[in-house]
Amino acid sequence: MEPHLIIELVMQYLDRQPESDKLRIRLYMALRQAILDRTLPQGVKLPPTRMLAADLAIGRNTVVRAYEQLLVEGYLEGRVGDGTYVSDVVDAASKPATPRRLIGTRREGLSRRGTGIVNSAASSVIQNGAFMPGVPDVEQFPFGLWRRLLAKYLHAGQARLLHYSHLGYGPLKVALAGYLRVTRMMVVDPKQIVVVNGSHQALDLCARMLADPGDRVWIEDPGYWGARNVLSAAGLAIRPVPLDAKGLAPIPEDWTEPPRLVFTSPSSQYPTGIVMTLDRRLELLERAFECGSWIIEDDYDNELRYDDRAVASLFGLCRRQRVIYMGTLSKVMFPGIRLAYMVLPEDLVDAFVIGNSELYRGGRMTEQAALAEFIDDGHFTAHIKRMRGIYQERRDILRNAMESCLGDAVSVSGGHAGLQLLYRFNAPVDDAQIAAQALAEGVVSRPLSMYYADGRNVRHGLNLGFAAVPERQIPPAVATLAGVIERAL
Ligand SMILES: Cc1ncc(COP(=O)(O)O)c(C=O)c1O
Repeated sequence: MEPHLIIELVMQYLDRQPESDKLRIRLYMALRQAILDRTLPQGVKLPPTRMLAADLAIGRNTVVRAYEQLLVEGYLEGRVGDGTYVSDVVDAASKPATPRRLIGTRREGLSRRGTGIVNSAASSVIQNGAFMPGVPDVEQFPFGLWRRLLAKYLHAGQARLLHYSHLGYGPLKVALAGYLRVTRMMVVDPKQIVVVNGSHQALDLCARMLADPGDRVWIEDPGYWGARNVLSAAGLAIRPVPLDAKGLAPIPEDWTEPPRLVFTSPSSQYPTGIVMTLDRRLELLERAFECGSWIIEDDYDNELRYDDRAVASLFGLCRRQRVIYMGTLSKVMFPGIRLAYMVLPEDLVDAFVIGNSELYRGGRMTEQAALAEFIDDGHFTAHIKRMRGIYQERRDILRNAMESCLGDAVSVSGGHAGLQLLYRFNAPVDDAQIAAQALAEGVVSRPLSMYYADGRNVRHGLNLGFAAVPERQIPPAVATLAGVIERAL
């Protein structure tokens, strides 16, 4: 694992430690937690104390004392100043796969729901670099422009923007409606748009407003684990539905027990990239209407399409008001903006506005105002266009490097849109082990198996994000990854 990656991880863990503690204690706790979480796995060489101290802008003695404490306790081995490594004590004490899958065994003090959330958690503390999937290159964001726009709306004259927002910022909804008309062929009244703090909140709102605990929800298998976790935490009964080349593929018998909700990403299925065909879309809409099911359309990365024109949204195709559309600013602006939006059938709007206010409260109006102007003045489409060019080049470099290093050992899918490519292994290997080993050598990936809810269908592979990786870093990272894979084959 590269020293800069380790330092970034340490910083993230440090941020979570109570400010009131002494710096030495915070650093010790941060490193210890990263080791216990296996974010710093066995065998990783920690950066020299001088380097870590300089990067964290703290005294070297502080680092030396934190390392020494961890050495005494057995978390580290080696000698300070002569290479300090994460020891195997944690790995030997417990097997990594078990704690996350212990659904049903209650954790001390937590509810069953809380236990389930913790045990199925899959979020990553690493958010950039080779090859974190699903994340944009935030370094490329037009900071100066955004700062000016925020400043324009963040002052005493605009104090009203600091209130709770029940309805969202009107001009933003107008701007989004205009954008959706042009890019997604959706003719919507701005009133149908509800602005939320990210797609996860939109999903949670759908689960609570449209379903009751125990109701069935269909999810794509493999599919976005984050959606699965949110829907399951809301008490819904998860029914994984396999995919075929046309997209979500329920068999006719599945409709004899119709779902209350269907969660799907038809324009670019996550993580496979499959685009749902028109006949499958029409069939899904028809059956959902007959059965009284609601369809939640996750259109998370339609803006980043490289090789062909975007397919129209399911929402735009539906004449019967059965689709709730979700868009997010995370992939085209930056994930930390925490702004996403839902487009609702007219009859649901009032109830969802109330539900959103009651459950979460609206806010972030300063950011919403800045975003409205960012869109209206053409910066949004210009930024998307620029990023599309950058990402397309990175995608091609990754694809070519994988092809020349691994050839027939893997098969690629996706990549016509979005921020990642999915590689399936053509021989039986354990993708979780490969991902863990690659991480120890500094390369991040997500094993394909973690996207499956139904253990019977699992295939192994790696989901590789190319967007947040500078071009020159891609080939060496692929060479490292290929080395790990070849050793496993
Ligand atoms: C398929 C998919 N949908 C939705 C999201 C979540 O987006 P948000 O940041 O708006 O919660 C992600 C985030 O990684 C995603 O991969």
